[in-house]
Amino acid sequence: MIETTVRDQYNQMAERYDRRWSRYLSNTLSFLKDWAAIVPESTVLDIGCGTGEFERLVLLEQPSQHIIGVDLSEGMLELAQQKCRGYPHVSFQKASVVALPFVDRSFDIIVSASAFHYFADPIAALKEMQRVLKPNGEIVILDWCKDYIMCQLYDVVLKRVDPAYRQSYTQAEFHRLLAQAGLVVDRAQKVRFGLAWELMIATARTDTPL
Ligand SMILES: C[S@@+](CC[C@H](N)C(=O)[O-])C[C@H]1O[C@@H](n2cnc3c(N)ncnc32)[C@H](O)[C@@H]1O
Repeated sequence: MIETTVRDQYNQMAERYDRRWSRYLSNTLSFLKDWAAIVPESTVLDIGCGTGEFERLVLLEQPSQHIIGVDLSEGMLELAQQKCRGYPHVSFQKASVVALPFVDRSFDIIVSASAFHYFADPIAALKEMQRVLKPNGEIVILDWCKDYIMCQLYDVVLKRVDPAYRQSYTQAEFHRLLAQAGLVVDRAQKVRFGLAWELMIATARTDTPL
C-alpha cells in the first residue's frame, strides 16, 4: 500500500526534513504563499502539510489565520504541531488526501505543495478536495513539472529507487487531470528554482459551483 510506504518514509525523515530541504522549502513555500494571496478571513486546508513550514510562513504575517494541515506522517505532523504551538487557529491532523475528515464545503482555499507526485489516485484526490471546498473556493497545487528535463530524470530514477514515489506530470497532463476531476484552471504557471527544481502551480475552481 503506497500510503503506508509514504508514511514510513516521512516518519523516518521527519527530524532531518527542514534542514535537508531548507532552501527548497523557503523558495517553493514563499512562492506558494505569494501566489495564493490568502486573505485573513479565509479558512485554509493544507494537504500533505509536512512539518508545517507553509503554516509558519503564513502565520508570520497573519497570526490569526485559520489553517488545518493534514498529512499521513505522524512524525511530520508532530514537528508541525510543535512549530505552530501558540497559534489558536491552526491545527494538524493525520489524514489521507482521499479520505479527508471534514464535512462538505468546509474550506475557502485548499493548498498542496510538493505532494501531488505521491498521490496513488490523483483524480480521487482532486474529487475529495473538491468535496470539502466551499462553492467558489480555490484549490492551489504546486508540484514538480515533467515538462523539464531534470524532472524527467528524477521521474525515471525515483520510479526505480523510491517505492513511495508515484509519478510526476507534464503541465498538460496535470491540467487534464484537473479537468477530469471537474475543475477549471483559473491561473497557472511553470516556475524554476535554480537549476535543479522545476515546478508548476495551478489555481483551480470547481466547474459547477452550486
Ligand atoms: C515533500 S513533502 C511536502 C511537505 C510540505 N507540503 C512542504 O512543502 O514542505 C510531501 C508530504 O506529503 C505527504 N503525503 C504524501 N501522500 C499523501 C497523501 N496521500 N495524503 C496526505 N499526505 C500525503 C507526505 O507524508 C509528506 O509529508
